[in-house]
Amino acid sequence: MIITPRVRGFICLTAHPQGCEQNVVNQINYVKSKGSVEGPKKVLVIGASTGFGLASRITSAFGANAATIGVYFEKPSAEGKPGSPGWYNTAAFEKHAHEAGLYAKSINGDAFSDEIKQKTLDLIKTDLGQVDLVIYSLASPRRVHPKTGVVHNSVLKPIGQTFSNKTVDFHTGNVSEVSITPASEEDIENTVAVMGGEDWAMWMDALKAADLLAPGATTVAYSYIGPGLTEAVYRKGTIGRAKDHLEATAFTITDSLKDLNGKAYVSVNKALVTQASSAIPVIPLYISLLYKVMKAKGIHEGTIEQIQRLFQERLFAGADVPVDEKGRIRIDDWEMREDVQAEVAALWEQATTETLPEIGDLQGYRTDFFNLFGFEVEGVEYGTDVNEVVEVPGLV
Ligand code: NAI
Ligand code: NA
Repeated sequence: MIITPRVRGFICLTAHPQGCEQNVVNQINYVKSKGSVEGPKKVLVIGASTGFGLASRITSAFGANAATIGVYFEKPSAEGKPGSPGWYNTAAFEKHAHEAGLYAKSINGDAFSDEIKQKTLDLIKTDLGQVDLVIYSLASPRRVHPKTGVVHNSVLKPIGQTFSNKTVDFHTGNVSEVSITPASEEDIENTVAVMGGEDWAMWMDALKAADLLAPGATTVAYSYIGPGLTEAVYRKGTIGRAKDHLEATAFTITDSLKDLNGKAYVSVNKALVTQASSAIPVIPLYISLLYKVMKAKGIHEGTIEQIQRLFQERLFAGADVPVDEKGRIRIDDWEMREDVQAEVAALWEQATTETLPEIGDLQGYRTDFFNLFGFEVEGVEYGTDVNEVVEVPGLV
């Protein structure tokens, strides 16, 4: 079939297998170009199919030569409908990993469930014995709690008062004012249940109880802080409460890993276009201005550049891992640079539908968005027939 983008708001319903493969190959080549990382050897990535999790898996495999197991929730093609991007990404990753002689297997299903945790534990036990790195990179709008059966839906809302600010529809370029009413207590609890640290701790407890963590094992989850501009809806909003909980959980997990000499970190990453971040109001406008400023300064990074730097210069640099006053790794350091933030804040004031194409990198935002689904990727022939049915070679 010939596959074209079918966009509905901040989601694209189709994905292109060859475009997704090319993205993965580009990431692999980037990691290889940066030389080897004296890093982990056996890695579990939870949320491995897109975004920061995929970049973590690629960096582990092609930077540190690690065996990887990826857990994710993706759809294969069905009845002439293409699969989801993470399906195609994983198929490509595993194909190239296997060609390079690397162990790579995956499990597709709900990582919040006991069933998928058990399946993963069994696979580690049989194939790897233990893991020395666990990356936790889930982004989900919903979690069925494995103990209570309650369905928690996360929301992106401010807390305490209505938030009004500019936002952009990145497809049309239309800049408008958005008002978001404050969250209820229940909204906050639900968001923390989905995006907080409880599930991360459950994974680490289960791995430890089954003796599947190697001595000195490390685990890393990803967080975001961002500027004052987005604070009310992000860091001081419902999702921020979840990130507070996630960050606090790192300390609990580190305590529980004491006898193994293990350690849990949260890495604060840069704002980037992913499926998760496209859904957050206000953030796309911020990202389009941020990209413009960071590209002009030559310090723009995508997910792979972020994670490669996280591994090579922070986690596995052969020295103590540098952290901020709250114990967090800051790989958002370039985003948060004073000069960058001052310029973004000034541009924010000027941003309108008319000025944005000039002062912001709306085109860069859109290209990144389409790239997530394997579209508009350089070197890919979109006019020709492709087989949408693709096997994931390491799928268990
Ligand atoms: P993403 O949407 O690209 O990736 C999410 C991953 O989770 C995918 O592999 C997906 O298959 C998997 N997943 C979702 N629900 C699942 C479930 N129930 N069971 C199994 N797998 C499931 O998201 P992204 O942006 O890479 O986010 C990862 C983490 O990074 C999140 O904690 C996010 O808050 C954080 N982060 C994101 C930033 C951004 O700007 N995108 C910035 C800083 C941190
Ligand atoms: Na991810």
